[in-house]
Amino acid sequence: MKVGIIGCGNIGTELALFIQKETNLNLMYLCDVDDDNARKLKERLRDVKITSIGDLITNSDLIIEAASKDTVKDILNTLDLFEKEILIMSTIGIIENMGTFNKIKGCRIHIPSGAIAGLDAITAVSGKITSLTLTTTKPIQGLRDCPHIIKNNIDLKEIKTKRTIFEGNLKEAIEGFPKNINVAATLFLKSKFKKMKIRIIADPETKTNNHEIICKGSFGTITSKTENLPSKNPKTSYLAILSAMQILKDIKN
Ligand SMILES: NC(=O)c1ccc[n+]([C@@H]2O[C@H](COP(=O)([O-])OP(=O)(O)OC[C@H]3O[C@@H](n4cnc5c(N)ncnc54)[C@H](O)[C@@H]3O)[C@@H](O)[C@H]2O)c1
Repeated sequence: MKVGIIGCGNIGTELALFIQKETNLNLMYLCDVDDDNARKLKERLRDVKITSIGDLITNSDLIIEAASKDTVKDILNTLDLFEKEILIMSTIGIIENMGTFNKIKGCRIHIPSGAIAGLDAITAVSGKITSLTLTTTKPIQGLRDCPHIIKNNIDLKEIKTKRTIFEGNLKEAIEGFPKNINVAATLFLKSKFKKMKIRIIADPETKTNNHEIICKGSFGTITSKTENLPSKNPKTSYLAILSAMQILKDIKN
């Protein structure tokens, strides 16, 4: 299976090295808007080619998106995705292009569980949920430069103890935290529950990205909690990378 990776940053790099070391998949193409990132990763790999996003999509059997929500739009709008496998990390990009996503046929889209746990159960109870809450607690450095922080003049340096800095729905969470609330997008894609409530807490004392899900309905209550150590990128939990690796292990070559 010919593999192409879009996005040669933190996740793309870890997945590329993993593919060549631990799987029989044939990593052939890389692409990144930042030429340096693509070049640096190429130097650490065997026999890969840097290419354009269009050529990568056309020539790969398995497309790995580890770039940005805008890249997801480009992939979903590609006319011929027939029989391709696509792994999407920037799940916010799916939410923002739901119309196109729902129309796609004939290819397999893999959505890793990312930094949360219990999505198998949440998927199973989809349609029977009466309330769903995601509470995300992050270290201060993981929240810098988010639009919600800037818009509301929140001085992160002033936060000395745990503080709720956001409460709202999925749309508001995506607007306020467009790069670091993929967990909420993934949770929606699996639960299909439109009234999900999201709370974001800034905690100057925590070293982990924590996600607590409480899901209630006719089945009872599902509670799941992860305390994630960050990867090399403080905004990305290591578990998110491991969950994508697990999908790659499961894809039969
Ligand atoms: N699903 C999850 O649970 C989860 C968890 C963590 C991160 N993410 C998402 O995964 C993506 C990658 O995360 P990361 O930690 O590797 O980020 P990163 O910033 O380390 O790397 C992203 C790379 O993609 C490149 N890029 C950006 N836009 C591009 C485009 N349009 N075309 C080609 N390349 C482009 C950047 O230049 C960079 O090299 C982000 O969108 C992030 O929000 C998802």
